[in-house]
Amino acid sequence: MKHVGVFDSGVGGLSVLKALLGHLPMEQFDFVADERYLPYGDKPQHEITDRVLTVSNWLRNQGCKAMVMACNTATAAGANQARAVHAHWPIVGIEPAVKPASMMTRTGVVGILATTNTVASERFKTLVERFDPLAKVIAQPCPGLVELIEKSPLPRADIEALLNPVVAGLIQKKADVIVLGCTHYPFVADIISDLAGPGVAVIETGMPVAKQLKSRLESEGLLWCKEPAADLLDRVRFYTTGDPVAFKNKLVNLLGDEWAGASIHFLTI
Ligand code: DGL
Repeated sequence: MKHVGVFDSGVGGLSVLKALLGHLPMEQFDFVADERYLPYGDKPQHEITDRVLTVSNWLRNQGCKAMVMACNTATAAGANQARAVHAHWPIVGIEPAVKPASMMTRTGVVGILATTNTVASERFKTLVERFDPLAKVIAQPCPGLVELIEKSPLPRADIEALLNPVVAGLIQKKADVIVLGCTHYPFVADIISDLAGPGVAVIETGMPVAKQLKSRLESEGLLWCKEPAADLLDRVRFYTTGDPVAFKNKLVNLLGDEWAGASIHFLTI
């Protein structure tokens, strides 16, 4: 049975992995957290493109049957390049949910929270232009937020202090939908919702990505249709280019005690 490779700069990809495990109960995954190079969001784009190519080569050499880029920043900086190198290998990327948000808003104003690199990318600008007639999109980078979400336990007071002016700015401009355009942010969605108040929808993209992977695997004849792996822990092999002990702490903190027995492998790529 072949695994699906999933990667992010860090724990953000776990918000996507959670949706993948739920929506594709027969599949197994290789999860790479590229924590030595975190945060991707503030690095020069060409460095992120290099990391995307390095990690995708590694996952492909591991024998993965497909790859999910569980990172908006990596998708913006390297999805086209990875697809050019790995033709005929299914690659599913992730981008901020501008389309659903533009269709959902009643005020006509959508707020997007994302990394500095995602907001600055050509891919994002094109995405926003495409839905321009439907809604006004206000993109708001959140430097420093990913680093706080990488701490375990989550420093909730610091996160709230960072997000407070950002969310207040969006509400002042009448945004009634806030898109989480970075896979780390769903782990603080409750804080964002509380700050935004009732009547503001906060949307993430884990489940749409899981659905897209499923239909891609189906159409390529790669979907695993036999019995699921007996144990949740057998369904994912975790790798980090950072500190395995620290990653394990974060994994348990963010996804729950059922992951306490997971082994985290150190990766030098
Ligand atoms: N989780 C990544 C994303 O979805 C970015 C995190 C980072 O800046 O490293 O954009």
